[in-house]
Amino acid sequence: MKPYVICHMFSSLDGKIKQTIWGLKDHHKYFEEPAAKIKADAWLVGRTTMQEFCSKRKYKLTTPKTTIAKADFVAQQPAKKYCVVMDPSGKCFWDTNMVTTEHVIEVLTEKVSSAYLQHLRSKNVSYIFGGKTTIDLSLILEKLNRLFGIKRIRIDGGGHVNGSFLKAGLIDEMSLVLAPIADGTSGALSVFEVEKGYSKRMATHFTLQSVKRIYGDYLWLRYVVKR
Ligand SMILES: NC(=O)c1ccc[n+]([C@@H]2O[C@H](COP(=O)([O-])OP(=O)(O)OC[C@H]3O[C@@H](n4cnc5c(N)ncnc54)[C@H](OP(=O)(O)O)[C@@H]3O)[C@@H](O)[C@H]2O)c1
Repeated sequence: MKPYVICHMFSSLDGKIKQTIWGLKDHHKYFEEPAAKIKADAWLVGRTTMQEFCSKRKYKLTTPKTTIAKADFVAQQPAKKYCVVMDPSGKCFWDTNMVTTEHVIEVLTEKVSSAYLQHLRSKNVSYIFGGKTTIDLSLILEKLNRLFGIKRIRIDGGGHVNGSFLKAGLIDEMSLVLAPIADGTSGALSVFEVEKGYSKRMATHFTLQSVKRIYGDYLWLRYVVKR
């Protein structure tokens, strides 16, 4: 079964997502507080976004004596909520298998080494394989449901992860916190980074579910995808 997918983002009026020049105090709250109100068993981010939460240490990997099979690993652990990272080459290192209250699941490809898998196992971090060299998004959603019981998942960015789920037609709902700010930086990251230039792909349409005015002049918009 495919989990229900909600993409949640915080953007400027022009759809930009990096807050470098926004000058906000407490900038995390605009994303985190509405996110906490969305019912979900897991949140998923790209490798770049996860850098904020994983270890800042540079681990020295050692190759194990026996090769570790490229097979999914479900760690024994008590948490019922999960955070998932799309990390095809195994670039995130972990001091613990938790980000606050969520158990870490790495989404990998078979490009990763046994040494990296040993690192994940030594920290009791779960991992699943999404393909040989690229990640099949439908496959990993199905595995997240079957192996971890995830029924609703929040995709929390960044732009490239959102774009890949959009392109694959796997997003069911959009939750957007819109800041009353125009960023105006040409080429800066936007909510959905799919591809350069126009292809034959058609844009995705949504139906408005709710609008809430929050933090004074901010809007929290909830949409479902039109199929
Ligand atoms: N405003 C907001 O609400 C919000 C929310 C989240 C993040 N952000 C910001 O967004 C920025 C990061 O966004 P980003 O778009 O550059 O990066 P991202 O989406 O967080 O991560 C991109 C990386 O994740 C991996 N990845 C993503 N999709 C994949 C796929 N379908 N298949 C295989 N690998 C995949 C790749 O890792 P490899 O490079 O290792 O191959 C890719 O380079 C940060 O500055 C963060 O602070 C803003």
